[in-house]
Formats: sequence, structure tokens, C-alpha cells
Amino acid sequence: MASLRDLLLAVIKSLFRGRSFLQALLAFWTTSTESSPTLREPASKDGSTSISDFLAKAESLLLDPTQPDKRRALSQKLKLEFREGLLSNPACMLPSYHTELPTGDESGQYLAVDVGGSTLRVALVDLKGRGSSGGPESVIVSIDTFNIDNDIRALKGRAFFNWMAEKIYQTVAKDSRQGHCADDPLLLGLSWSFPIEQPAPQTYLLRPMGKSFHAADGLLNQNLSSILQTSCLHHNLHVSLSAIVNDASATLLSAAYSHPSTTTFGLILGTGVNIAAYLPVTTISPSKLPPRPQTLATHVVVNTELGMFGGPSLPSTKWDKTLKASHPRPDFQPLEHLVSGFYLGEVARLILVDAIHETGAFGGVVPDSLAREYTLDAKTLSLLESDPFHFQTLHPSPYPPSRTDLALLTSIASLITQRSASILAASLHALHEINLEASSPQNQPQKTTTIAYTGSVIEHYPHYLSHLQSYLDQLTLNTPTTFKLVPAKQSSVLGAAVALACLDKQSTRS
Ligand SMILES: *[C@@H]1O[C@H](CO)[C@@H](O)[C@H](O)[C@H]1NC(C)=O
Repeated sequence: MASLRDLLLAVIKSLFRGRSFLQALLAFWTTSTESSPTLREPASKDGSTSISDFLAKAESLLLDPTQPDKRRALSQKLKLEFREGLLSNPACMLPSYHTELPTGDESGQYLAVDVGGSTLRVALVDLKGRGSSGGPESVIVSIDTFNIDNDIRALKGRAFFNWMAEKIYQTVAKDSRQGHCADDPLLLGLSWSFPIEQPAPQTYLLRPMGKSFHAADGLLNQNLSSILQTSCLHHNLHVSLSAIVNDASATLLSAAYSHPSTTTFGLILGTGVNIAAYLPVTTISPSKLPPRPQTLATHVVVNTELGMFGGPSLPSTKWDKTLKASHPRPDFQPLEHLVSGFYLGEVARLILVDAIHETGAFGGVVPDSLAREYTLDAKTLSLLESDPFHFQTLHPSPYPPSRTDLALLTSIASLITQRSASILAASLHALHEINLEASSPQNQPQKTTTIAYTGSVIEHYPHYLSHLQSYLDQLTLNTPTTFKLVPAKQSSVLGAAVALACLDKQSTRS
């Protein structure tokens, strides 16, 4: 008898050969019921829907808006929203001070620190340059990773930065080559996944951090450079915070360093979603560009804050409306709700609860562990195909799920990730068109546009990457553009080091 895994794979595979869920499931039942009578669909009681009818309905609600022509229309609408954001919205489309992409010949050893929601990384990065004879263009000489747990997140104000300084000191102390003194401090590049205000180059003012961090408590609008400097001095460590990047910009910069000059986008898709884009300055309102020394810059790295877009343009099903209705800031990040890992699990849960009530799947009973909001994790969904029993362990039920029940959930997960990938493809395409249309004929972007990506959903979710690639291909059909997705490994520390190297080069030049 075929294993559950094989059967699920068979459904998924026929799905990806372009058959609808309905067809795939029917094929699944007809080929598997003989050998395994328990697989038969539960007989519908009067008035209840069959699982295949439910899935057919869900498929049409979720996937109709992602048909190629509708995806193209969404891209056009997003393009208008992005243009407006570039001209007038102070909360998104944030230009950075990075006006030049690395050429790939930057070199030197740099200290890079990455502070994310759950990890602190401290790395010594050796940039050798793309032209260096043999060997990779960059080497992480050493990297230490520290867990940021609730206790660390609860540290208030300087206590958090003292903790950070201690970890930086531990890493630096291991490498005797890292000399430093008050007159010649260690240059530090920081990847900071939190809001920060940058009114002038080298000045970074702390803003409320969110994500249950308390490090900004009592330090709001204070100078992060001097805070870090002071904390590091407790260990006799002289540092100078010289470059800050967010995670999306870090991805863009690190890939631009490793790949020939084609990179235009840095894409993050894990718990959250964001894109950094390298755009012509002419697309940005001068009032959004702070006064800066390099007035001759033609392009600048822009942090799109993608999650905030899409309010007027995105499709919305009844499940999306339910999610929004109980959200504390329903209109703050519309695109995030349909695309990022944090919300994929919740949308799947809402659909599953409906399916259980309407079809009697899972014995007609919602497992206790799934009764509350945000109890289904995107990671659990991403493991359904390879390890369906993971789900049963996390979400036990008085009626152990049948193979059909699990196939139902896998199908729901696949539908919402296809929708997410379609919206992401439309967003990338819209940004690409803005770049294309604003570039002078002699300064056209390369035909191959590289999208450097990182994040748990895009890296690990089954088929996410191939869906995204095929949706992008559909959007560029019959045009000279090709989108190429490349993984950006360790991009946060590499990007911070590259940002530092670029500034270093600019300052020695001027
Ligand atoms: C912030 O601190 C750094 C390091 O002490 C200093 O170089 C910079 O001038 C400060 N910025 C402001 C606006 O005070």
C-alpha cells in the first residue's frame, strides 16, 4: 500500500502539473480508495458540503485574482501606489544614504553586527573583492550567534546595549588582529531590523522598536552611535558605528557585491515581508531626500516597507476580512496580511475552521489547540508535505485526521502560498517598471534583473520559489526582461560589512 507521504505527493504533483484541486483530489480518491477504504470522502450529511466542493470554492476565491491578466492589473495598480509613496508618503519608500552599489572590488576586514527579532549575530567579515585570485569574494572569518529571548527583549534602555556590547567584545577578543584605540576605533556596520531615524549621515536616532523589545525605553530619539560607543567602552573596546542597513537593504548590498552589477532588489520573506530597491533618484520627491553631500547621485537604495501597500488594490476573501476585523491595526500593513509568514498560518487556520464546520472533515471538530487566533504556524504548514505527523503532534484531536483531512489542509496551504507568491511577483514587477520607466535610454537596467532573497518562507516553503519564478516569467513574457532569483546567504552581516566598505571607499576618495 502506498504510504501517506506518497499519496500526498501524488496530489501535490498533479496540482503542479496545472490540474485544479478538484481534479487532483478526485484523481487522488479514485486511485487510492481501492487499496485504502478509509480514504473515502466522508459522506456529506444533509446540507453539508463535500470536501472537493469546499476546495473548489476556496480555489476560486483565492486563485482567481492571481490569473495572469489579473496579476498584471495588480502590478499596474501597485505601480501607482508605489509612485505616490515615493513622492509623498513619509512612512514608506524610505531612501537611504546608500547611493552607490558596491562594485565588487571593495576589500578589507570589517566588524558586522546583526540585530534581528530573535538573534544577535556578531561577525568579522573579510571582503576580498570579486577579482581576488581564486577563492570566494567574501569570507566570514568568525561569527557568533546569540539567542535574543524574552528576558533580553525585556532589557530596558542601556541594559540592552550593554548586553550587546558584551557579546561584541566576546567575539572581537577572540581575534588578536582586531587592534583599536580611541583615535583609531573599530568600524562597525550594523544590520538593524527596527525603525531608525537618520537625519544626517552617521547619525542614527532610536525609534520605538516594537516586536516586544524595550531597548528604546528611555532612549527615544537618542543617538545610537554614541549609546553603542559608551556601552563598548565598558569593555575598553573603541568602536565607531559607521553604517546601518535594514535587512532588505543588507540583502541587496551583499548580493550586489557578489554578483555582477545586475542586482536591483533585495527581498525578505519570512515572518515579515519587505523589498529594498535601487531606484533612480528622479522617482523620489526631493522633499523626501534629506540634504546629503552626494548631490550628484543618480540612484539610491530605497527601503520600500512593502507590507504597508496594497490597501486599495489587493483582493480580499471572507477569511481576509475576518483576520482584518480582529486585527489591532487592520489598515497598517494590508499586503503583509496576504503575503508574509506571520499571517499565512492564520489565514490557513480560518479556512480550515470553515472547512471543518462545512464539510465535517477532522471529525467535524476543531482541535482545541487551533481554536484561538494565530495558533497555526507557517512552519507547521511548510512541514505538512514532508512530515504530516508533525501537525498531529502539535494539534492533537479526539478524531485523528484521515489522509483526506491532511490532504485538505495541504491543499489550503498550497492555495494561500500561491496567492502570496502571485502578489509578490506583481510587486517586484511594478518596482521593476518604475525603475525601467525612470531610467534614461543610456542608463537602462540590465536585461537580467537579479532578485536576492532570504527568509524562512521563501527558503523553506515547498514550491514557493518555483511559483514565484513562474509568475514573474508570465509577467515578463515577450519583454526583454528576465528575473533571476538568487539566494543571499548570511546577507545581514555581509550586507552590513559591504555597506561599511562602500562608505570607507567614499571617504578615502573624497
Ligand atoms: C552621534 O554620535 C556619534 C558618535 O559619538 C557622533 O560622531 C555624532 O556626531 C553624533 N551625532 C549627533 C547628531 O550628535
